[in-house]
Amino acid sequence: MSEFVKLIVGGKTYDIPVISGSEGEKAIDITELRKKTGLITFDPGFANTGSCQSSVTFMDGEKGVLRYRGIPIEDLASNSTFIETSYLLINGRLPKRKELNRMSVLLNDASLVHEDMQTFFQKFPRASHPMGILSSMVTALRSFYPELQILEEEINITVMRLLSKIRTLAAMSYKISRGHKVIYPRPDLCYCGNFLNMMFDNPVKPYTLKGDLIRALNVFWILHADHEQNCSTTAVRVVGSGRVNLYAAISAGIAALWGPLHGGANQAVIEMLSRIVKSGESVSGIIEKAKDKKQSFRLMGFGHRVYKTYDPRALILKGQCDNLLTKLNLSDPLLDVARKIEEAALKDDYFIEHHLYPNVDFYSGILLRTMGIPTNMFTVMFAIGRMPGWISQWMESIDDPRWKLCRPRQIYIGSNVQPYIPIDER
Ligand code: CMC
Repeated sequence: MSEFVKLIVGGKTYDIPVISGSEGEKAIDITELRKKTGLITFDPGFANTGSCQSSVTFMDGEKGVLRYRGIPIEDLASNSTFIETSYLLINGRLPKRKELNRMSVLLNDASLVHEDMQTFFQKFPRASHPMGILSSMVTALRSFYPELQILEEEINITVMRLLSKIRTLAAMSYKISRGHKVIYPRPDLCYCGNFLNMMFDNPVKPYTLKGDLIRALNVFWILHADHEQNCSTTAVRVVGSGRVNLYAAISAGIAALWGPLHGGANQAVIEMLSRIVKSGESVSGIIEKAKDKKQSFRLMGFGHRVYKTYDPRALILKGQCDNLLTKLNLSDPLLDVARKIEEAALKDDYFIEHHLYPNVDFYSGILLRTMGIPTNMFTVMFAIGRMPGWISQWMESIDDPRWKLCRPRQIYIGSNVQPYIPIDER
């Protein structure tokens, strides 16, 4: 039976339809609202706004549930690889062995980047943040790999190029920033192994790949692969809605992810934990500072717009940190401090009342540090992982029969009509 909500405007009643999702979530469908009533909605930060219907990812923020195409994130983290999960997100189902093998061949074929792109890299100032470089380089890919004539071929090839080349570009940017020789991708290595090799192999000190690191990287990227309508995915959809090419839409996603309230939080967490270890500041002092509204300080890696309980990704990453450090026989003082902060925050009334729990970024940086990834590359690692999510959300948006250019309205609060005063009379 159809469900409606009643809206009374100026004494007139309107029946506004309610739509439901496959997991029972409901929304008031206001598509016709302005046409019928003259009203628009007002929702800063879009906290109550469903911007699309999507079958890619389901999350329940109250219960701490995250599923890609219906498959729980915990099952994927235990059993899948990043490439298989990418296939799942992009194609809507898990691949058969033959399909997965074909995907690996395509990724390998697309793994080199045009040699002239190295010239671009060399011209960035040495202190540039790798996220700025990556965003520019992804847009630049369009110039090096121009449009194909058949749309389907264009999309398939661009998708493989992006998934494969972003990994090569990221490793290249690291090598060039250190003034080192660029290491090329190798056809005998898997996606994650290839990335680690391109990052750390060196003509005078060959890199030995470790299975534990490859597995940890797969899990890290699986956990970052999609997260429904977050800030950067929304940026990809909004920019893509103007029918711009996929490279430009993804580049917008990378720029959005850079911010410390979004993907940049993983770097901010490590900087915060390092400051605490270095200064010897007490955990209770940090908790008090995070609660003090007079200070701009927030506990980085805590809180989430959707999760009002423990972020399921954070739980898996915390286990991965313990696991990897034990296997490599290492310890990390930052992990000890992180555990103490979590323990104190979870008992604190402010954090309980505000539903503030560790999010994906709280433990991810410690895992990346253990792999040897430098702090300024953390958000780049997030961006590589989010690539299949951005791509699948973009593909879904361009295939949507209700596709529309994203163009919100506003409530204007500026001056009413004013005369133009000539410059000498002002
Ligand atoms: N430390 C202290 N107080 C916080 C924190 C925090 N980390 N996060 C939220 N609050 C408080 C905030 O001060 C506000 O308090 P009050 O209602 O008393 O004024 C309340 O909680 C709600 O905060 P909000 O900013 O309105 O909530 P939001 O849903 O807009 O923000 C958030 C979500 C992630 C931006 C925020 O929790 C935050 O800034 N966290 C720290 C940065 C971070 O870890 N970001 C990574 C997010 S997960 C990765 C991703 O998906 O991108």
